[in-house]
Formats: sequence, C-alpha cells, structure tokens
Amino acid sequence: MTDPLIETIHLSKVYGSGETAVRALDDVNLTVAPGEFVAIMGPSGCGKSTLLNMLGALDQPTEGEVWVAGENLAKLKHVDDFRARTVGFVFQLHNLLPTLTALENVEAPMQGRVASARERRDRAMHLLALVGLALRAKHLPNQLSGGQRQRIAIARALANNPKLVLADEPTGALDSQSGAEILQLLGELNRSQGTTIAVVTHDRRVAQATQRILRMQDGRIVEDHHVRDPLEEDLRALAFSKLGETILDTEDAPLQAITPEEEAILRKLIVRLRK
Ligand SMILES: Nc1ncnc2c1ncn2[C@@H]1O[C@H](COP(=O)(O)OP(=O)(O)O)[C@@H](O)[C@H]1O
Ligand SMILES: [Mg+2]
Repeated sequence: MTDPLIETIHLSKVYGSGETAVRALDDVNLTVAPGEFVAIMGPSGCGKSTLLNMLGALDQPTEGEVWVAGENLAKLKHVDDFRARTVGFVFQLHNLLPTLTALENVEAPMQGRVASARERRDRAMHLLALVGLALRAKHLPNQLSGGQRQRIAIARALANNPKLVLADEPTGALDSQSGAEILQLLGELNRSQGTTIAVVTHDRRVAQATQRILRMQDGRIVEDHHVRDPLEEDLRALAFSKLGETILDTEDAPLQAITPEEEAILRKLIVRLRK
C-alpha cells in the first residue's frame, strides 16, 4: 500500500479555555491516499475550516498529530516553506490581490521559489491556460466574473505544483452554474495532475463530483462515504429527499399521479437505497 498523503491521529482542537472552550475538532482520525478527491460536508461550525487549517499547517492541534506528505507538521522547521511547497489554498473569497493582473497573481507565490522571471511567466501562463483563462492574463480581478476570479485563485494555488490542494467553500460565493464549473475544474485537475484535493462544500451535488464524502458534526467525522456510480448517488439523493420521505411515510397513495403498484415499487426501492 502506498503511504497516505494525509494522516491525522487522534486530532483534537480546542479554542479558548474553561467555560467558553470550544472543541472544534474531537478525535479526528483521517487517512487520505495520494490522488484522492475528497469533499467535506457538515453544518456551519462543525469544524470543517478548522480541519483544513490543520492540514495546511495554518493552525496547530491541541492534541494529536497531523502528517502530510510524510511530514509531521508539529516538527516542521520551516512552516512557510512547507506551505509554499506542499499545499495550495483556495478560499471562499478568492483573496486575489486587486492591483495585480491575473497573470501576476498566479506568479506571486513563485517569487523566491522559481528564480527566473521568464520561467515564472511561462508557468503562470500554462496554469491560466489550464483553468481556461489564457485570454484574461492581463485583466485585473475586478474585470473578471466571480467564477473567473475563482479559476485564477485555483491557478494560483497550483503555482508551486503542490501535492495537496485545500479548498474551503470555493463555490460558496458563486451561482450554482459557476459553482458546478469550479468543481468540474477541480475534478479535471485531480485527474490530469494527480493532485490530492480536499474541498469543503455545502452542495450535495457538488460533493458527488468527488470520490469520497466526509460528513462532519460537532468536530467529528460521522460519515465517510465513497462515491459510487452517479446514478446510484442520484437515487440515494432521491431516497433521502422530501419525496422519498413522503412515499415512505404515507400509507395510501400520497401522490395523485402514480398507481398503487408503482408506489409499492418506489417504496421498496427507497427502503433499499436508504440502507
Ligand atoms: N479562532 C477561533 N477562536 C475561537 N473559536 C473558534 C475559532 N475558529 C473556530 N472556532 C469555533 O470552532 C468551531 C468550528 O469552527 P469552523 O471550523 O470554522 O467550522 P465550519 O468551517 O465547519 O463552519 C465553531 O464553533 C467556531 O465558532
Ligand atoms: Mg468554515
């Protein structure tokens, strides 16, 4: 078996102390293999951002260990170097520098890491092409749409060819069409570059574009689900939908348009899907 890219061991994070202490992460044991594309879901405040911050060495655990790409993050000598080299971040609000062009924003993380300006430019152009924005290289962020800005942010996250991309609600500020496109782009990058990606999202359909869905609650991972056939995922969504509930819960003909026989079939199907 290959070594995991991410491993958390009894990871806990407590903010504050005494009566106001908040256990944002509570004994999280998570393993992610290289090349996986993982969605993290769960209600607001359940610890999703805290987990991403731990994985990206932006914050430190209260207890437990975090290993990324073979390194124990508590033992890092050069945290900035680790972040620049190994992790790319994409946030809900793109955080692009407003006075720099798209191209310059993508070049910025390469400063001090790629010596030649020419090489930085070539790589940034390559990444802009990869996210479908080669023709917007000279534009400033405010001359681009929300979806385009988020594409630039993804190109920037890839600047130093990270092993891991951490995206915290990257589609949260976008309309559903642009959101779906951003997730599709992340999926393509995952497949074509082999980049491991962990993305926080609230959108179930978005999550189903990934390979694995983690559901968090009160600082814990309460469900770890491998995404299967898209049809099966759609059927599962149906089973847990309001319609699914209605068909299960209502004794006789809840819906005008279906026959009792059809309803019986649907009920059997839904019971099975919900297992
Ligand atoms: N810097 C902080 N100081 C104190 N409490 C925090 C801090 N960051 C997060 N929390 C708390 O930790 C919990 C988890 O937060 P967070 O990881 O941001 O949740 P999510 O991203 O799932 O919405 C919440 O109760 C939040 O209020
Ligand atoms: Mg959050």
